[in-house]
Amino acid sequence: MEKLLYRGFNYETVPENYVFPPEARQKKLESKTNIPVIDMVGDGFDRKEIAKQIFEAGKEFGVFQIVNHGVPLELMKEMMSVTREFFELPAEERAAYYSDDLYKPVRVFTSTGVHDIVRFWRDCLRMAVHPVEDFKQYWPHKPTNLKSAVERYAVEMKGLIVRVLELIAEGLGLEVGYFHGDLSGEPLVSHVNFYPPCPDPSLTLGLAKHCDPGLITILLQGEVSGLQILHNDEWLAVDPIPNAIVVNYGHQMEIITNGLLKGVDHRAITNNQQPRLSIASFVQPSKESLIAPAPALINEKNPAIYKSYIFRDYFANYVTNLGDKEKSAKPFLL
Ligand code: OGA
Ligand code: NI
Repeated sequence: MEKLLYRGFNYETVPENYVFPPEARQKKLESKTNIPVIDMVGDGFDRKEIAKQIFEAGKEFGVFQIVNHGVPLELMKEMMSVTREFFELPAEERAAYYSDDLYKPVRVFTSTGVHDIVRFWRDCLRMAVHPVEDFKQYWPHKPTNLKSAVERYAVEMKGLIVRVLELIAEGLGLEVGYFHGDLSGEPLVSHVNFYPPCPDPSLTLGLAKHCDPGLITILLQGEVSGLQILHNDEWLAVDPIPNAIVVNYGHQMEIITNGLLKGVDHRAITNNQQPRLSIASFVQPSKESLIAPAPALINEKNPAIYKSYIFRDYFANYVTNLGDKEKSAKPFLL
């Protein structure tokens, strides 16, 4: 239980092992650039136009927010509140799920879950959520309505992911189903990130700069700010918009599009006002799938910059390199 950050009370000072050296800490944001917001229904649902907006956003920022996405708002609220209740359970009850075993379908961990020199200001409930029937037995029994919410959420997420992947493929001029099958075939895993209020946010980070490894990540972030992306060497806030869902590209999207779309580096900062909860769902290729730049996106003028490889090999290297894009891609560059 000492392993968990949040033990039911707010800290008055930052424990020493959470204090980052000055160069790694958050700095004041200068830029006010807004991240694109895409209306998924749009003007009479002009698919081409929506696909184009998604393409432009992905090229420039590697992240966008979607509204009118079709996921019921009550379900989003219920997921946020039921998982929040999970983090309000007594620390011993949450600690019963604690594990460092990366292969457990459901586990609680803190910081990054590996032995960090300086810890990050977050606890995480990690759950494999889809296919539902494979994993529902492992989901926490408490709060009592958690299982039913996660089940409905997982099904909605899967539907949304299919729609978004199709629009991305269309925007790239690829066949609509390009990302279906193996390329998005790993079971869907969600991280419920809980960032307790932090007495001195200037010293800490909720999550370090990283790029998600897979194709896309779908993020609910409630109403509390904290997500930032790195854009042209500047940190930009992705502030919450009511009922919107954040979509960001992972590193495989950058590799499959031969660098056309950007896997975005991002991080989470802390605040001293209120807890922040976010739910990230990671769309990843199945471990045995073959990854390579899409043939339709390479030509003489734009030759492939990556070799083809098995996703399992990339992933092992990603874990070793703690989510650093350059280091993770190095062995796979041509
Ligand atoms: C993640 C992540 C951001 C957030 O879980 O990979 O980047 O806002 N989360 O919590
Ligand atoms: Ni991330």
